[in-house]
Amino acid sequence: MTTRSPLPEVVRDGEVLRRQVAELRRRGNKVGLVPTMGALHEGHLSLVRAALAECDACVVSIFVNPAQFGPSEDFARYPRARDADLDRLADLGVQLAFVPETADVYRPGHSTWVEVGSVAEPLEGESRPGHFRGVATIVLKLFNLAGADVAYFGQKDYQQALVIRRMVEDLNVPVEVRVRPTVREPDGLAMSSRNAYLDPGERARAASLYASLCAAERLVAAGQTEAGRIRREIETILIDSGEAEIEYIALVDPETLHPRSAADGPTLIALAVRIGQTRLIDNCLLNAAIA
Ligand code: PAF
Repeated sequence: MTTRSPLPEVVRDGEVLRRQVAELRRRGNKVGLVPTMGALHEGHLSLVRAALAECDACVVSIFVNPAQFGPSEDFARYPRARDADLDRLADLGVQLAFVPETADVYRPGHSTWVEVGSVAEPLEGESRPGHFRGVATIVLKLFNLAGADVAYFGQKDYQQALVIRRMVEDLNVPVEVRVRPTVREPDGLAMSSRNAYLDPGERARAASLYASLCAAERLVAAGQTEAGRIRREIETILIDSGEAEIEYIALVDPETLHPRSAADGPTLIALAVRIGQTRLIDNCLLNAAIA
């Protein structure tokens, strides 16, 4: 007979979470927070493993945040898998899962929003107006409720991590933000809950995002640093893969996200591509490590 790991304690009320984490910290425990929207995959689990390894207790929040989806985006069909998520967290030994109701997170009369400045404006900020306002607002609420010591985010959402870091710095939020590397499928596709939308043909074509980033890295390693040339290489690989609709291919400064004309110093290459109806993002850092 196999014995199952105990499920994490599911907390739905923010004040209860606040009290529980405060008590853990009062007893000298370092608490890690992994904010998620659920439909957990290896990318999320790698953040949870890091939190468990680096902290004494780990809180995982699961909340599909309506405020970060545009009116024509996929909020209604975003994958939800609450029971499977809790099983996965149980297998890793997570103590607390914060699973609030939307009506408790955004109470009637909610009218305060966090607008982060310039790093929230280009790339995803331009393609998804209002997205980072929704992200920053929910993340600040989670930071305030959980009161954790450390919070974990993935490099796949590089700009999101930068926006959160800026907010933490600007608003003196007492939490340390750690960013962990992107976790990939064997063919290189960055793990994402949205990969579940891809049909088998689209799934095969989706590997072209990573292939194009690798080709760009090879080009730079061979001495070709001109941004236009690198963008064309990426574009050719994406287009050759089938019906990829390119939203942006950007070479930017990893700190400011200002465009770079050459990848001759620290550079982030960021992509947003539609494969069928599914919008995918990916990125790679050149001459820089994730801070
Ligand atoms: O990266 C995500 O899953 C979400 O944007 C986050 C950080 C959980 C906020 O809703």
